[in-house]
Amino acid sequence: MNTDTATELAVDCRGIEKSFGEGETRVQVLRGTDFDARLGQMTFLVGPSGCGKTTLISVIGAILSCEAGEVHVLGSDLRRMKKGALADFRLANFGFIFQEYNLLPALTAAENASIPLVARGESNRDAERSAEELLGKLGLEGHTAKMPAQLSGGQQQRVAIARALIHEPRLLICDEPTASLDAASGHNVMELLRDVALAAERAVLVVTHDHRIFEFADRIHHMSDGVIESTDEHPNEEQDG
Ligand SMILES: Nc1ncnc2c1ncn2[C@@H]1O[C@H](COP(=O)(O)OP(=O)(O)OP(=O)(O)O)[C@@H](O)[C@H]1O
Ligand SMILES: [Mg+2]
Repeated sequence: MNTDTATELAVDCRGIEKSFGEGETRVQVLRGTDFDARLGQMTFLVGPSGCGKTTLISVIGAILSCEAGEVHVLGSDLRRMKKGALADFRLANFGFIFQEYNLLPALTAAENASIPLVARGESNRDAERSAEELLGKLGLEGHTAKMPAQLSGGQQQRVAIARALIHEPRLLICDEPTASLDAASGHNVMELLRDVALAAERAVLVVTHDHRIFEFADRIHHMSDGVIESTDEHPNEEQDG
């Protein structure tokens, strides 16, 4: 990889090693894994259940540490950052949509979605107002004062998506973002995510099994047994165009 292309990479990982457990129960999940994602693009990561997709994006998102390799994200070398600096970096630059929604059960939809703004110092009132507006765009007008338990799975997913987008992160990491959505809501969500990716100096990573949304991919990395086996560089371009 030469330095010219490195400048446009949002994520550049080389030789990542990650295992879980000790001794006889140790499982090596990432085995010298390379991965990259470009600014201004939606990069998809697909592969069979258990191959290591969530583990890889958790290392990229600084949720998990790894044992070896290089993890460069938005120009920073994550493995060389101190704990506090890494936490601040993550809060300012990353948005996450997880496989499970992880909403806080005692907060309303609007309060849940406003968390990243409050965390960076905005008043509850302003943060909630912004959250209500974004939830409206996601089709949740009239649901913003409800608690997660009063919402359907798909509605909870959209609250989680609002929370991931509200602070306009430069890197958005999504694990099965459309799994619990019907086709129309899934399409709507992907259009929002694409708008994020297209905004200057941003990137979106999407882990998915959902073929209905492959049309949104700028690149698709195929993972198998902990490594990227192949990459479709132009999955949605016309063959003879
Ligand atoms: N905290 C953990 N402790 C022990 N093993 C783990 C842990 N997290 C993941 N694993 C193991 O690592 C492997 C990869 O898991 P991972 O969650 O990354 O897969 P995945 O590709 O995201 O699968 P899925 O499509 O089902 O979400 C699996 O064998 C899993 O059991
Ligand atoms: Mg997973």
